[in-house]
Amino acid sequence: MIKLNNLTKSYANGQNKAVDDLTWEIKDGEIVGFIGPNGAGKSTTIKMMTGLVLPDSGFVELNGLDITKKPLEAKQQFAYVSDTPDNFLRLKAIEYLNFIADIYQVSEADRNHRITDMAKRFGIMEVLERPIMEFSHGMRQKVMVMGALVHNPSIWILDEPMVGLDPNAAFALKEMMREHAAAGNSVLFSTHVLEVAEKLCDHVGIIVSGHMIFAGTMDELKDHYPSDMSLESIFMEMTKDA
Ligand SMILES: Nc1ncnc2c1ncn2[C@@H]1O[C@H](COP(=O)(O)OP(=O)(O)OP(=O)(O)O)[C@@H](O)[C@H]1O
Ligand SMILES: [Mg+2]
Repeated sequence: MIKLNNLTKSYANGQNKAVDDLTWEIKDGEIVGFIGPNGAGKSTTIKMMTGLVLPDSGFVELNGLDITKKPLEAKQQFAYVSDTPDNFLRLKAIEYLNFIADIYQVSEADRNHRITDMAKRFGIMEVLERPIMEFSHGMRQKVMVMGALVHNPSIWILDEPMVGLDPNAAFALKEMMREHAAAGNSVLFSTHVLEVAEKLCDHVGIIVSGHMIFAGTMDELKDHYPSDMSLESIFMEMTKDA
């Protein structure tokens, strides 16, 4: 469960309000798409969820733990995939994955099982001994997703996770997200690919200029529009003044 309570964040000495009084709840068992135009405040919201950016006001609870008051316990609750996979480039992929597994105190048996399983699903078993520096964008993205998931947390928070993934890996990740939510966990991901959000999510949040303009089920959203209208057309309609 993720609870965002009246989150507000400004940049540039208060000149630019990136997120404005945002309240939202993502329940267990839900797979939720977070959509909005470029610069709308998705990554800023996600960074506040994960404790990377401090809100000016408001607070975040992950499985009931306040990310600011109980950062260590709260950080054990979630996996976070950032919007850039260019981290720890000098490490070999396997070194990076073991490093993350060490931080989260994942047992030898569990990490071996999970790393092998995910590497097979993503088709990167053969390159784990190579430095991340030598990887393409999509290969780096796969390693970052694997690192985020290696401690098997209940909450997944993924900022544009499908960017750069080939069709097979994107399919595998979507399948993993579905399985994880179906097992009673929360999955939140931002995306610009509205077809993916439409097919994968039962809930969706739409943010425009720092304001949540819709949060609810895909069916509730579509109820307001003609039945044959796609999420893409609805999104265009809702954001046309932004
Ligand atoms: N580190 C920063 N310093 C100053 N302004 C920032 C910073 N990060 C984000 N912003 C501003 O906050 C606003 C929201 O940006 P954010 O990255 O959250 O948007 P986004 O919805 O993730 O966009 P995109 O779809 O392009 O990823 C933008 O106006 C952006 O310029
Ligand atoms: Mg972003």
